[in-house]
Amino acid sequence: MEHRIIVNPTLKIKEKLKTHSVQGDKIFHFSGLGSPAGVILLFMENGNEKPGYLPLAIGPLRIWPPVVLSPMAGVTNAAFRSLCAEFGAGLFVGEMVHARLLVEGDPYTVSLARFAPDEAVRSIQLYGTDPGEVAAAVRLLVAEHRVDHVDLNFGCPVRKVLKKGGGAALLLNLPLFARIVRAAVRAAGAVPVTVKFRMGVDAQRLTYLEAGQIAVAEGVAAITLHARTAEQLYSGNARWEAIARLKERVRDVPIIGNGDVRTADDALLLMRKTGCDGVGIGRGVLGRPWLFQQLSEAFNGLPVSSDPEMTGVVAVIKRHLRVECQYRPQAQVLRNFRKHLKWYLDNFAIPTAWWQRLFQADTLAELIATLNHLANTFGSHPNLHSRPFSIAGNESVEE
Ligand SMILES: Cc1cc2nc3c(=O)[nH]c(=O)nc-3n(C[C@H](O)[C@H](O)[C@H](O)COP(=O)(O)O)c2cc1C
Repeated sequence: MEHRIIVNPTLKIKEKLKTHSVQGDKIFHFSGLGSPAGVILLFMENGNEKPGYLPLAIGPLRIWPPVVLSPMAGVTNAAFRSLCAEFGAGLFVGEMVHARLLVEGDPYTVSLARFAPDEAVRSIQLYGTDPGEVAAAVRLLVAEHRVDHVDLNFGCPVRKVLKKGGGAALLLNLPLFARIVRAAVRAAGAVPVTVKFRMGVDAQRLTYLEAGQIAVAEGVAAITLHARTAEQLYSGNARWEAIARLKERVRDVPIIGNGDVRTADDALLLMRKTGCDGVGIGRGVLGRPWLFQQLSEAFNGLPVSSDPEMTGVVAVIKRHLRVECQYRPQAQVLRNFRKHLKWYLDNFAIPTAWWQRLFQADTLAELIATLNHLANTFGSHPNLHSRPFSIAGNESVEE
Protein backbone atom coordinates (compact mmCIF):
# COMPACT_ATOMS: atom_id res chain seq x y z
CA MET A 1 0.00 0.00 0.00
CA GLU A 2 1.33 3.42 -0.93
CA HIS A 3 1.04 6.23 1.52
CA ARG A 4 1.98 9.82 2.06
CA ILE A 5 1.64 12.27 4.88
CA ILE A 6 0.11 15.69 4.98
CA VAL A 7 0.41 18.43 7.53
CA ASN A 8 -2.53 20.01 9.21
CA PRO A 9 -1.75 23.63 8.33
CA THR A 10 -3.60 25.04 11.32
CA LEU A 11 -1.01 23.60 13.68
CA LYS A 12 1.99 25.24 12.03
CA ILE A 13 4.43 22.47 12.72
CA LYS A 14 5.88 21.95 9.28
CA GLU A 15 9.50 22.00 10.51
CA LYS A 16 8.83 19.12 12.86
CA LEU A 17 7.93 16.97 9.91
CA LYS A 18 11.58 16.77 8.92
CA THR A 19 12.30 14.54 11.86
CA HIS A 20 9.25 12.45 11.27
CA SER A 21 9.25 11.79 7.56
CA VAL A 22 7.86 8.46 6.53
CA GLN A 23 9.15 6.80 3.43
CA GLY A 24 8.46 3.77 1.35
CA ASP A 25 7.05 1.00 3.48
CA LYS A 26 8.32 2.54 6.72
CA ILE A 27 4.95 3.70 7.90
CA PHE A 28 5.24 1.75 11.13
CA HIS A 29 8.27 3.83 11.93
CA PHE A 30 5.78 5.54 14.26
CA SER A 31 4.76 2.29 15.83
CA GLY A 32 3.02 2.89 19.07
CA LEU A 33 3.33 6.62 18.86
CA GLY A 34 0.90 7.41 16.09
CA SER A 35 1.58 10.39 13.96
CA PRO A 36 3.24 13.52 15.28
CA ALA A 37 0.89 16.32 16.26
CA GLY A 38 -0.89 17.79 13.29
CA VAL A 39 0.17 15.12 10.83
CA ILE A 40 -2.37 12.95 9.15
CA LEU A 41 -1.28 9.70 7.60
CA LEU A 42 -2.89 9.25 4.22
CA PHE A 43 -2.98 5.83 2.62
CA MET A 44 -3.44 5.53 -1.13
CA GLU A 45 -5.64 2.66 -2.05
CA ASN A 46 -6.64 2.08 -5.67
CA GLY A 47 -5.80 5.67 -6.40
CA ASN A 48 -8.04 6.97 -3.57
CA GLU A 49 -6.75 8.76 -0.52
CA LYS A 50 -7.90 7.38 2.82
CA PRO A 51 -6.92 8.76 6.20
CA GLY A 52 -4.85 6.14 7.93
CA TYR A 53 -4.72 5.42 11.63
CA LEU A 54 -2.47 3.09 13.56
CA PRO A 55 -3.41 0.75 16.36
CA LEU A 56 -3.04 2.30 19.78
CA ALA A 57 -0.01 0.70 21.43
CA ILE A 58 -0.11 0.51 25.22
CA GLY A 59 2.92 -1.50 26.30
CA PRO A 60 2.43 -4.91 24.65
CA LEU A 61 -1.26 -4.25 23.90
CA ARG A 62 -2.35 -3.26 20.41
CA ILE A 63 -5.76 -1.64 20.36
CA TRP A 64 -7.61 -1.45 17.09
CA PRO A 65 -9.52 0.72 16.45
CA PRO A 66 -7.64 3.17 18.68
CA VAL A 67 -10.62 3.88 20.91
CA VAL A 68 -10.94 3.62 24.66
CA LEU A 69 -14.06 3.36 26.77
CA SER A 70 -13.23 5.97 29.40
CA PRO A 71 -13.55 4.72 32.95
CA MET A 72 -16.81 5.89 34.48
CA ALA A 73 -17.65 5.15 38.11
CA GLY A 74 -21.01 3.40 38.38
CA VAL A 75 -21.09 2.71 34.64
CA THR A 76 -18.14 0.82 33.16
CA ASN A 77 -18.67 -2.40 35.10
CA ALA A 78 -18.09 -5.84 33.57
CA ALA A 79 -21.63 -5.94 32.14
CA PHE A 80 -21.38 -2.59 30.38
CA ARG A 81 -17.91 -3.39 29.06
CA SER A 82 -19.13 -6.72 27.64
CA LEU A 83 -22.07 -5.01 26.00
CA CYS A 84 -19.82 -2.41 24.36
CA ALA A 85 -17.42 -5.15 23.21
CA GLU A 86 -20.30 -6.94 21.49
CA PHE A 87 -20.60 -3.94 19.18
CA GLY A 88 -16.97 -3.29 18.36
CA ALA A 89 -13.42 -3.51 19.54
CA GLY A 90 -11.37 -1.09 21.60
CA LEU A 91 -9.98 -0.88 25.10
CA PHE A 92 -12.67 -1.03 27.77
CA VAL A 93 -11.42 0.38 31.04
CA GLY A 94 -13.13 -0.80 34.19
CA GLU A 95 -14.55 1.62 36.70
CA MET A 96 -12.32 3.20 39.28
CA VAL A 97 -11.43 1.28 42.42
CA HIS A 98 -9.98 2.77 45.57
CA ALA A 99 -6.48 1.38 46.24
CA ARG A 100 -6.68 1.18 50.02
CA LEU A 101 -10.19 -0.30 50.10
CA LEU A 102 -9.14 -2.90 47.57
CA VAL A 103 -6.13 -3.90 49.62
CA GLU A 104 -8.28 -4.07 52.76
CA GLY A 105 -10.62 -6.43 50.94
CA ASP A 106 -13.69 -4.19 51.19
CA PRO A 107 -16.35 -6.43 49.59
CA TYR A 108 -17.98 -3.68 47.47
CA THR A 109 -14.61 -2.48 46.16
CA VAL A 110 -13.54 -6.05 45.40
CA SER A 111 -16.80 -6.55 43.50
CA LEU A 112 -15.94 -3.55 41.31
CA ALA A 113 -12.76 -5.29 40.23
CA ARG A 114 -14.63 -8.16 38.52
CA PHE A 115 -14.08 -9.08 34.90
CA ALA A 116 -16.14 -11.01 32.40
CA PRO A 117 -14.73 -14.52 31.92
CA ASP A 118 -14.04 -13.84 28.25
CA GLU A 119 -12.82 -10.26 28.62
CA ALA A 120 -9.95 -9.99 26.12
CA VAL A 121 -8.02 -7.28 27.96
CA ARG A 122 -8.57 -6.93 31.70
CA SER A 123 -8.25 -3.21 32.25
CA ILE A 124 -9.04 -1.26 35.41
CA GLN A 125 -8.62 2.20 36.91
CA LEU A 126 -7.11 2.77 40.32
CA TYR A 127 -7.39 5.77 42.62
CA GLY A 128 -5.03 6.39 45.49
CA THR A 129 -2.94 9.07 47.15
CA ASP A 130 -0.42 6.93 48.98
CA PRO A 131 2.37 5.37 46.90
CA GLY A 132 2.61 2.32 49.20
CA GLU A 133 -1.13 1.64 49.02
CA VAL A 134 -1.19 2.13 45.27
CA ALA A 135 1.74 -0.29 44.84
CA ALA A 136 0.02 -2.89 47.04
CA ALA A 137 -3.21 -2.53 45.07
CA VAL A 138 -1.38 -2.87 41.75
CA ARG A 139 0.39 -6.03 42.96
CA LEU A 140 -2.97 -7.48 43.99
CA LEU A 141 -4.60 -6.56 40.70
CA VAL A 142 -1.79 -8.15 38.72
CA ALA A 143 -1.40 -11.30 40.81
CA GLU A 144 -4.98 -12.09 41.79
CA HIS A 145 -7.18 -10.30 39.29
CA ARG A 146 -4.77 -11.00 36.42
CA VAL A 147 -5.17 -7.54 34.93
CA ASP A 148 -3.51 -6.62 31.64
CA HIS A 149 -3.63 -2.86 32.17
CA VAL A 150 -3.85 -0.43 35.08
CA ASP A 151 -4.89 3.20 34.63
CA LEU A 152 -4.23 5.70 37.43
CA ASN A 153 -6.80 8.39 38.11
CA PHE A 154 -5.53 11.96 38.57
CA GLY A 155 -8.59 13.69 37.21
CA CYS A 156 -11.22 13.47 39.93
CA PRO A 157 -12.77 16.95 40.26
CA VAL A 158 -15.00 16.20 43.28
CA ARG A 159 -14.45 18.89 45.89
CA LYS A 160 -14.17 16.65 48.92
CA VAL A 161 -11.53 14.53 47.12
CA LEU A 162 -9.59 17.63 46.11
CA LYS A 163 -9.66 18.93 49.68
CA LYS A 164 -7.90 15.75 50.80
CA GLY A 165 -5.23 16.32 48.16
CA GLY A 166 -6.50 13.49 45.94
CA GLY A 167 -7.68 13.30 42.31
CA ALA A 168 -6.86 16.36 40.27
CA ALA A 169 -5.27 18.02 43.34
CA LEU A 170 -2.27 15.75 42.74
CA LEU A 171 -1.59 17.87 39.68
CA LEU A 172 -0.57 20.52 42.23
CA ASN A 173 1.72 18.15 44.08
CA LEU A 174 3.85 16.79 41.29
CA PRO A 175 6.51 15.22 43.55
CA LEU A 176 3.80 13.04 45.14
CA PHE A 177 2.25 12.43 41.70
CA ALA A 178 5.68 11.16 40.56
CA ARG A 179 6.05 8.86 43.57
CA ILE A 180 2.60 7.34 43.05
CA VAL A 181 3.25 6.71 39.36
CA ARG A 182 6.71 5.27 40.08
CA ALA A 183 5.33 2.94 42.76
CA ALA A 184 2.58 1.71 40.44
CA VAL A 185 4.91 1.15 37.48
CA ARG A 186 7.38 -0.82 39.59
CA ALA A 187 4.66 -2.92 41.19
CA ALA A 188 3.07 -3.69 37.82
CA GLY A 189 6.14 -5.36 36.32
CA ALA A 190 5.37 -6.13 32.69
CA VAL A 191 1.76 -4.90 32.93
CA PRO A 192 1.45 -1.44 31.39
CA VAL A 193 0.42 1.44 33.64
CA THR A 194 -1.20 4.55 32.20
CA VAL A 195 -2.31 7.84 33.73
CA LYS A 196 -5.43 9.89 33.13
CA PHE A 197 -5.56 13.52 34.15
CA ARG A 198 -7.11 16.87 33.44
CA MET A 199 -5.29 20.03 32.37
CA GLY A 200 -4.90 21.16 35.96
CA VAL A 201 -7.03 22.23 38.89
CA ASP A 202 -8.00 25.54 37.33
CA ALA A 203 -7.10 27.85 34.46
CA GLN A 204 -4.42 29.59 36.56
CA ARG A 205 -2.66 26.35 37.39
CA LEU A 206 -2.31 24.26 34.26
CA THR A 207 0.23 21.57 35.05
CA TYR A 208 -0.65 18.88 32.50
CA LEU A 209 2.45 19.36 30.33
CA GLU A 210 4.77 18.97 33.28
CA ALA A 211 2.72 16.07 34.65
CA GLY A 212 2.94 14.38 31.25
CA GLN A 213 6.73 14.64 31.19
CA ILE A 214 7.00 13.33 34.73
CA ALA A 215 4.67 10.41 33.97
CA VAL A 216 6.81 9.42 30.98
CA ALA A 217 10.00 9.66 33.04
CA GLU A 218 8.40 7.34 35.62
CA GLY A 219 7.58 4.77 32.97
CA VAL A 220 3.91 5.08 32.01
CA ALA A 221 2.81 3.41 28.78
CA ALA A 222 0.28 6.08 27.71
CA ILE A 223 -1.42 9.24 28.91
CA THR A 224 -5.07 10.23 28.65
CA LEU A 225 -5.87 13.91 28.82
CA HIS A 226 -9.43 15.02 29.58
CA ALA A 227 -9.01 18.47 28.16
CA ARG A 228 -10.71 20.44 30.92
CA THR A 229 -9.64 21.72 34.31
CA ALA A 230 -11.06 20.21 37.50
CA GLU A 231 -12.75 23.53 38.21
CA GLN A 232 -14.70 23.22 34.96
CA LEU A 233 -16.14 19.83 35.93
CA TYR A 234 -17.95 19.04 32.66
CA SER A 235 -18.89 22.57 31.60
CA GLY A 236 -17.81 24.41 28.48
CA ASN A 237 -16.11 22.68 25.60
CA ALA A 238 -13.12 20.40 25.97
CA ARG A 239 -9.97 22.26 24.90
CA TRP A 240 -8.73 19.92 22.21
CA GLU A 241 -5.80 22.24 21.51
CA ALA A 242 -4.38 21.17 24.89
CA ILE A 243 -4.33 17.59 23.60
CA ALA A 244 -2.31 18.74 20.58
CA ARG A 245 0.05 20.61 22.89
CA LEU A 246 0.60 17.57 25.07
CA LYS A 247 1.19 15.46 21.98
CA GLU A 248 3.84 17.90 20.81
CA ARG A 249 5.52 17.97 24.21
CA VAL A 250 5.38 14.26 25.01
CA ARG A 251 6.82 12.20 22.21
CA ASP A 252 7.64 8.93 23.87
CA VAL A 253 4.27 7.45 24.72
CA PRO A 254 0.87 7.52 23.03
CA ILE A 255 -1.52 10.30 23.95
CA ILE A 256 -5.21 9.48 24.27
CA GLY A 257 -7.37 12.54 23.69
CA ASN A 258 -10.57 12.78 25.71
CA GLY A 259 -13.47 15.17 25.94
CA ASP A 260 -16.70 15.77 24.03
CA VAL A 261 -16.45 12.96 21.48
CA ARG A 262 -20.05 11.95 20.78
CA THR A 263 -19.88 10.41 17.34
CA ALA A 264 -17.49 8.42 15.18
CA ASP A 265 -16.89 11.57 13.14
CA ASP A 266 -15.91 13.44 16.30
CA ALA A 267 -13.36 10.71 17.06
CA LEU A 268 -11.73 10.99 13.63
CA LEU A 269 -11.77 14.78 13.88
CA LEU A 270 -10.08 14.73 17.29
CA MET A 271 -7.35 12.45 15.92
CA ARG A 272 -6.86 14.64 12.86
CA LYS A 273 -6.91 17.94 14.71
CA THR A 274 -4.56 16.99 17.51
CA GLY A 275 -2.45 14.13 16.14
CA CYS A 276 -3.36 12.12 19.24
CA ASP A 277 -2.93 8.35 19.12
CA GLY A 278 -6.24 7.27 20.52
CA VAL A 279 -9.59 8.63 21.60
CA GLY A 280 -11.20 8.17 25.01
CA ILE A 281 -14.98 8.28 25.06
CA GLY A 282 -17.16 8.64 28.14
CA ARG A 283 -20.57 10.30 27.95
CA GLY A 284 -20.92 9.64 24.22
CA VAL A 285 -21.45 5.94 24.96
CA LEU A 286 -24.00 6.39 27.74
CA GLY A 287 -27.16 4.81 26.37
CA ARG A 288 -25.33 4.34 23.05
CA PRO A 289 -23.05 1.28 23.25
CA TRP A 290 -23.49 0.83 19.48
CA LEU A 291 -21.14 3.79 19.13
CA PHE A 292 -18.38 1.14 19.26
CA GLN A 293 -19.73 -0.39 16.06
CA GLN A 294 -19.83 3.04 14.43
CA LEU A 295 -16.26 3.72 15.59
CA SER A 296 -15.08 0.41 14.12
CA GLU A 297 -16.76 1.23 10.84
CA ALA A 298 -15.31 4.74 10.72
CA PHE A 299 -11.73 3.71 11.54
CA ASN A 300 -11.91 0.86 9.03
CA GLY A 301 -13.07 3.27 6.32
CA LEU A 302 -16.55 1.74 6.06
CA PRO A 303 -19.85 3.60 5.86
CA VAL A 304 -21.03 4.39 9.38
CA SER A 305 -24.37 2.85 10.35
CA SER A 306 -27.11 5.04 11.79
CA ASP A 307 -28.27 4.96 15.38
CA PRO A 308 -31.02 2.37 15.88
CA GLU A 309 -34.69 3.27 15.98
CA MET A 310 -36.83 2.60 19.04
CA THR A 311 -37.22 -1.14 18.35
CA GLY A 312 -33.46 -1.55 18.02
CA VAL A 313 -32.78 0.49 21.14
CA VAL A 314 -35.22 -1.61 23.17
CA ALA A 315 -33.47 -4.77 21.96
CA VAL A 316 -30.14 -3.35 23.20
CA ILE A 317 -31.67 -2.37 26.57
CA LYS A 318 -32.99 -5.92 27.03
CA ARG A 319 -29.59 -7.34 26.16
CA HIS A 320 -27.95 -4.93 28.63
CA LEU A 321 -30.37 -6.04 31.36
CA ARG A 322 -29.64 -9.71 30.69
CA VAL A 323 -25.89 -9.14 30.92
CA GLU A 324 -26.27 -7.10 34.15
CA CYS A 325 -28.29 -9.93 35.69
CA GLN A 326 -25.31 -12.26 35.24
CA TYR A 327 -23.46 -10.17 37.82
CA ARG A 328 -25.94 -9.08 40.47
CA PRO A 329 -29.40 -9.74 41.87
CA GLN A 330 -32.39 -8.44 39.89
CA ALA A 331 -33.46 -5.92 42.53
CA GLN A 332 -30.03 -4.30 42.47
CA VAL A 333 -29.98 -4.30 38.66
CA LEU A 334 -33.37 -2.59 38.55
CA ARG A 335 -32.28 0.10 41.00
CA ASN A 336 -29.07 0.87 39.14
CA PHE A 337 -30.60 0.65 35.72
CA ARG A 338 -32.80 3.75 35.88
CA LYS A 339 -29.97 6.03 34.82
CA HIS A 340 -29.28 3.75 31.83
CA LEU A 341 -32.98 3.85 30.82
CA LYS A 342 -32.81 7.62 30.88
CA TRP A 343 -29.68 7.64 28.72
CA TYR A 344 -31.06 5.09 26.24
CA LEU A 345 -34.44 6.72 25.81
CA ASP A 346 -33.70 10.40 26.30
CA ASN A 347 -33.46 10.89 22.56
CA PHE A 348 -37.06 9.86 22.00
CA ALA A 349 -40.02 12.03 22.79
CA ILE A 350 -41.70 9.64 25.22
CA PRO A 351 -44.80 10.76 27.15
CA THR A 352 -44.22 11.15 30.91
CA ALA A 353 -46.57 8.31 31.80
CA TRP A 354 -44.24 5.89 30.05
CA TRP A 355 -41.28 7.06 32.12
CA GLN A 356 -43.28 6.40 35.28
CA ARG A 357 -44.09 2.87 34.16
CA LEU A 358 -40.47 2.19 33.29
CA PHE A 359 -39.10 3.56 36.54
CA GLN A 360 -41.69 1.91 38.74
CA ALA A 361 -41.30 -1.63 37.41
CA ASP A 362 -40.87 -3.90 40.43
CA THR A 363 -39.51 -6.91 38.63
CA LEU A 364 -37.35 -7.57 35.63
CA ALA A 365 -40.28 -9.30 33.90
CA GLU A 366 -42.43 -6.19 34.38
CA LEU A 367 -39.73 -3.90 33.03
CA ILE A 368 -39.22 -6.12 29.98
CA ALA A 369 -42.98 -6.26 29.32
CA THR A 370 -43.14 -2.45 29.49
CA LEU A 371 -40.16 -2.16 27.15
CA ASN A 372 -41.83 -4.54 24.66
CA HIS A 373 -44.99 -2.50 24.86
CA LEU A 374 -42.96 0.67 24.31
CA ALA A 375 -41.32 -0.82 21.21
CA ASN A 376 -44.69 -1.93 19.84
CA THR A 377 -46.16 1.50 20.42
CA PHE A 378 -43.31 3.63 19.12
CA GLY A 379 -41.79 1.01 16.76
CA SER A 380 -39.79 2.89 14.17
CA HIS A 381 -39.62 6.16 16.08
CA PRO A 382 -36.37 7.77 14.99
CA ASN A 383 -33.54 8.33 17.40
CA LEU A 384 -33.16 12.10 17.43
CA HIS A 385 -29.39 12.21 17.98
CA SER A 386 -29.80 15.65 19.42
CA ARG A 387 -29.25 14.99 23.08
CA PRO A 388 -26.78 17.46 24.51
CA PHE A 389 -24.37 16.07 27.05
CA SER A 390 -26.00 16.05 30.41
CA ILE A 391 -25.40 13.82 33.35
CA ALA A 392 -27.58 14.01 36.36
CA GLY A 393 -25.67 15.39 39.33
CA ASN A 394 -22.45 16.30 37.54
CA GLU A 395 -21.05 17.56 40.81
CA SER A 396 -21.19 14.17 42.40
CA VAL A 397 -19.65 12.27 39.53
CA GLU A 398 -16.72 10.40 40.95
CA GLU A 399 -13.88 10.74 38.57
C1 LIG B 1 -20.80 9.17 35.16
C2 LIG B 1 -19.35 9.45 34.98
C3 LIG B 1 -18.42 8.84 35.80
C4 LIG B 1 -17.05 9.08 35.60
N1 LIG B 1 -16.16 8.42 36.37
C5 LIG B 1 -14.83 8.54 36.11
C6 LIG B 1 -13.87 7.76 36.80
O1 LIG B 1 -14.18 6.99 37.69
N2 LIG B 1 -12.56 7.93 36.46
C7 LIG B 1 -12.15 8.80 35.49
O2 LIG B 1 -10.95 8.91 35.21
N3 LIG B 1 -13.05 9.55 34.83
C8 LIG B 1 -14.37 9.42 35.09
N4 LIG B 1 -15.28 10.15 34.38
C9 LIG B 1 -14.79 11.05 33.33
C10 LIG B 1 -14.76 10.35 31.98
O3 LIG B 1 -13.91 9.22 31.99
C11 LIG B 1 -14.28 11.33 30.89
O4 LIG B 1 -12.95 11.70 31.18
C12 LIG B 1 -15.12 12.59 30.84
O5 LIG B 1 -16.49 12.28 30.91
C13 LIG B 1 -14.84 13.38 29.54
O6 LIG B 1 -15.06 12.57 28.42
P1 LIG B 1 -16.44 12.62 27.58
O7 LIG B 1 -16.62 14.03 27.12
O8 LIG B 1 -16.21 11.64 26.46
O9 LIG B 1 -17.53 12.22 28.51
C14 LIG B 1 -16.64 9.96 34.58
C15 LIG B 1 -17.59 10.60 33.79
C16 LIG B 1 -18.92 10.35 33.97
C17 LIG B 1 -19.90 11.02 33.07
